[in-house]
Amino acid sequence: MDELQSRKEAALQAVAAADNIDAVESLRVEALGKQGWVSQLLKTLGQMSPEERQEQAPVIQAARTEIADAIAGRKEALESAVLEAQLVSDTLDLTLPAPEAPQGTVHPVSQVMDELAEIFADMGFAVATGPEVEDDWHNFTALNMPESHPARAMHDTFYFPDADDEGRRMLLRTHTSPVQIRSMMGQGAPIRIIAPGRVYRSDSDATHTPMFHQIEGLVIDRDIHLGHLKWTLETFLKAFFEREDIVLRLRPSYFPFTEPSVEVDVGFAIEKGRRVLGGDGDAPGHAWMELLGSGVVNRRVIESAGLDPDEWQGFAFGVGVDRLAMLKYAMDDLRAFFDGDVRWLRHYGFSPFDQPTLSAGVGARA
Ligand code: DAH
Repeated sequence: MDELQSRKEAALQAVAAADNIDAVESLRVEALGKQGWVSQLLKTLGQMSPEERQEQAPVIQAARTEIADAIAGRKEALESAVLEAQLVSDTLDLTLPAPEAPQGTVHPVSQVMDELAEIFADMGFAVATGPEVEDDWHNFTALNMPESHPARAMHDTFYFPDADDEGRRMLLRTHTSPVQIRSMMGQGAPIRIIAPGRVYRSDSDATHTPMFHQIEGLVIDRDIHLGHLKWTLETFLKAFFEREDIVLRLRPSYFPFTEPSVEVDVGFAIEKGRRVLGGDGDAPGHAWMELLGSGVVNRRVIESAGLDPDEWQGFAFGVGVDRLAMLKYAMDDLRAFFDGDVRWLRHYGFSPFDQPTLSAGVGARA
């Protein structure tokens, strides 16, 4: 028995002194393994007399439990020390420099929207937004297109099958014009906003995609007239195309939400087979290209949005962002905008460092 006690003490000391997991494991095999001395002692119980066994068994079992607990405790302590050391050495150095080769590019649509926001911010316009899942009233009715209006048919609208909780007919907005209504109702007058965003129409070919981008402009104030509209568009287009010789032609047109309505054309020349904006469209070698829709906000629209049309007037315009990007950066297929082809993005995308600013120029280099 004394021998058992002293072997146990020696084993416990050795376990406590072991400084790595392998050493603890060999101590376990030495004592508790199949051939270990504790296991051998347990085997001797079989040859003992019942009385002797009754006396010896609990002592040997107790020694076995004590050694097993000590081993388990030591293993755990060593394992957490290893983990602790690893946590200290495995640091994440956030000060490392960025990868040498830039990994991504800014999509031309995002770039052009940033350019537009920058140009209009300089003229005192704020950026407004509205939902892409819109209701019938904001998208059409409030814009002077009641249920039976023929202009509705021109929009190739994606309707949702069910009305919303309040019984409104829901759709994917077909233009950014509903943001006019939301801005007037939300903030009252005066207003100077642009509203860039996605719009949807059931239409698809080389120049139409079911989702595309527009930017809406709205100014509401007192004594607003077409001259303000023309100056604003001219200033915007000169800054955007970075040319002083941009010439506009205002052509009478029809939109339900403007009265009068004007279609704005821009003069261009053909140079080396490419359309280059600038110059009078009536000059030799030049022509006109339709660029955007606009007009003086219809009284009925101002009324629908809860303002008094005798007090407030305004002008509005809507233009395709994708089309502006194609014209400025000489791209020929609209569908490529939405393919997500990384080769196209590498070619036409912009560096994230090329932030458009008025001082450094909004014409980022591709
Ligand atoms: N919402 C029109 C469209 O998508 C574009 C438009 C035309 C917007 C005239 C306007 C506007 O604000 O005054 O076809």
